[in-house]
Amino acid sequence: MPRLSVNIDHIATIRQARRGDEPDPVAAAVLAELAGADGIIVHLREDRRHIQDRDLRLARQVVRTKLNLEMAATDEMQRIALDVKPDIVTLVPEKREELTTEGGLEVFARVEAVKKFVGPIQDAGIPASLFVDPDKQQISAAKKAGALWVEIHTGAYANAKNEQERNKEYGKIVESAQLAASLGLRVGAGHGLNYVNVKAIVRIREVEELNIGHSIISRASLVGIGRAVRDMIELIKT
Ligand code: PXP
Repeated sequence: MPRLSVNIDHIATIRQARRGDEPDPVAAAVLAELAGADGIIVHLREDRRHIQDRDLRLARQVVRTKLNLEMAATDEMQRIALDVKPDIVTLVPEKREELTTEGGLEVFARVEAVKKFVGPIQDAGIPASLFVDPDKQQISAAKKAGALWVEIHTGAYANAKNEQERNKEYGKIVESAQLAASLGLRVGAGHGLNYVNVKAIVRIREVEELNIGHSIISRASLVGIGRAVRDMIELIKT
């Protein structure tokens, strides 16, 4: 059974709609943990559109489970990660105009650059995860770059227009997870997972962790975050 990490970025999105101080994503982190989440994820974007530096620093103080800092591979973010010391760093590509993280990180064409970036982070005792498409070349490259984890991008599976396409994308995730595990990488998965499509991903034995944000926060807006997290845990763990 995979563990569940909850991405709280969209609590901050609601707050930033008014540039005020509520709702507080750090309060959401505490409530998600109390409801049984195994980890909390924040994505500190270069443009600070949702999570702010203050949120990350406070989350570092209050999160008792596992704090995953999602970030782009920039010098600024590397400095912040080394200073705040999250429990894990996930490297994602970042484009200013995108609504959310669109594709996986290009590791295959940039193995040496990624290795150089990941080195100081892992030397500081912070494991690095690379968010990659379900593509064997990218998975093998992640191993070569020295990362300890990969997070397999489930977006294409989640957004598939029909069953045939969904099955094809699912197959890629299964094969990528198997390859990653056989190389000794630890495996997470996420993006676009919801209360309907998560079940099939749970069945992939190699996937240790699911990283889910939008669907949980959407449900939380209607039923409360405790219930939304518990509902997801029930799907994952039964
Ligand atoms: N994993 C990564 C690397 C992401 O960038 C995101 C989106 O911030 C997620 C998981 C969660 O995706 P969603 O919000 O669609 O559940």
